[in-house]
Amino acid sequence: MQKKSSGLERESFSSRFGVIAAAAGSAVGLGNIWRFPYLLGENGGAAFLLLYLFIALLIGIPIMMSEMLIGRLSRKNVIGAFHFLTPGRPWFLVGVMGVGAAFVIMAFYSVVGAWTIEYFYASMTRSLEGLSVEQLNDYYLHFTTDFYRPVLWTLLFMALNVIIVMGGVKGGIEKYSKFLMPLLFVIIVFLMFRSLSLDGAWAGVEFLFKPDFSKMTAKTVMVALGQVFFSMSIGMGVMATYGSYISKKERLGNTAISVTSVDTLVAVLSSLVIFPAVFAFGLKPDAGPGLVFVTLPNIFAKMGGGFLFASLFFLLLSIAALTSTFSLLEVVVAYFTEELQMKRRVATLVAAVVMTVMSVFCVKYAAFFSVLEFLSSNILLPVGGMFIVLFVVWVLQRHVVKNELEAGGNTMKFFPVFWWLIKFIAPLAIALVFLNGLGWLG
Ligand code: PFF
Repeated sequence: MQKKSSGLERESFSSRFGVIAAAAGSAVGLGNIWRFPYLLGENGGAAFLLLYLFIALLIGIPIMMSEMLIGRLSRKNVIGAFHFLTPGRPWFLVGVMGVGAAFVIMAFYSVVGAWTIEYFYASMTRSLEGLSVEQLNDYYLHFTTDFYRPVLWTLLFMALNVIIVMGGVKGGIEKYSKFLMPLLFVIIVFLMFRSLSLDGAWAGVEFLFKPDFSKMTAKTVMVALGQVFFSMSIGMGVMATYGSYISKKERLGNTAISVTSVDTLVAVLSSLVIFPAVFAFGLKPDAGPGLVFVTLPNIFAKMGGGFLFASLFFLLLSIAALTSTFSLLEVVVAYFTEELQMKRRVATLVAAVVMTVMSVFCVKYAAFFSVLEFLSSNILLPVGGMFIVLFVVWVLQRHVVKNELEAGGNTMKFFPVFWWLIKFIAPLAIALVFLNGLGWLG
C-alpha cells in the first residue's frame, strides 16, 4: 500500500447529524423542488410518486449503501478508492467517470442555481409583482436566454461554493449543512401550510394523491429511474466521497435510509407547496420546467404579501441548490488533494474555475446545457450505479461487505435482502430500463 494515500490525516464528519445533514443536503436539491414536481405534473401525479418510491426503495437505497461502503472501506476519494480496493485493475475508471460526472452536473446545475438567485433578488426587490403570466413568461425567457446577468449570478453562486468547500469537511461542508438543512426544512413546512390554506387547495392535494395510471408508459419508468439517481445523488461518487468521511460507528444502512427519507419527504413537501397553489389559482400542473419560474411567481403575485412568500421560496431553492453543488465540488477537490497532492485551497479554485467555464458555455448555448442534463441523469448516473453494484457484488467479497455494513455494531438482519437486491434486482432493472430507453424492447 502506498504511504502517500494511507488516509491517516483525513478529516471526517464529527456527528451523526452532521453526516445526515451533509448527505441529505447533497440529495435534496433542485431535483426535489424544481424537477420532481414538474415530472409529477407531467406523468400522472400519484402514479409517478408510487413508481418513484418503489424504485428508490428497491434500487436507490441499496446503491447508496454500496457507494458509501466503497468510500468508507477505502477512506479515499472516488478514484483513489477503486485504486486502493483493486490495485492495477481498470475499476478506477468508474471513479474517473464519477469525477467527470461531477463536472458535468456542476456545469448545468450552477446555471439553474444562478436562476434561483435572480428570482430571489427579483422577489426581494418586488420586481415580479403585478406581472401577468405573459410578462412572467417573457421575463423567464428573456433572463434565461440573456448572457451577462446569468453569468454574474453563476459567478456568485460558484463563489459561495468555493468559500464553503475551502472550509474543509468539518469546518465547511458539515458546518453549513447543519445550519442550512434545518433552515430549508422550516421554510418548506411554512410554505406548505400557506399553500394548503388557500381556497381550492384541495384539488392539488387530490391530484398528488390520486394516481392516474393512464399517463404511465415505458418512458415514465425511464424518467423515474433517472430521477431517483439524480435526486438521491447516487451513481457518481458523491456518496462514496461523503462515505469516506463517515465514522465506522455509523450503520450505513440506517444512514442511507435516513437520507433517502429526507430526500423523498422534501420532494413530497415541495409538491405540497406547489400543487395546492397551482390548483387554487386555476393553473395547469404540467407546465414543465417553467412551473417554478413562471407559474409560481404568478401565484405569488396574486397573493397578499406575495413578495415575502416568493422571496422565501427562492431562498429555499438557492439553499437546496447550494448544498447539492458543494457536494459535487467536494468530489473533485478530494481527488485533486489526495491524488494530485494539491492544497485544498488550490484544488478548490482550480476545480471551480473549470466548472465556471463550463457553466458559461451552458449559459451561452442552450443545447450544451440540455446535452449535459440528459447525459447526467440518463447515462452517467445509471451506468455509474450499475458498475458500483457490480463492483460490490463481484469484486468485493461478501463477508467484507457484510462486515463493513455491520461495522457500527449490531448485526444487519436485512443483509441477505440487500445482497439479493444489488446482485439481481438493481442490475436487472437498470439494464431493462436502458434497453427500453434505447428502443430495443419494442
Ligand atoms: N441530488 C441533487 C438534486 O436532487 O438536486 C442533484 C445532484 C447532486 C445530483 C449531486 C448528483 C449529485 F452527485
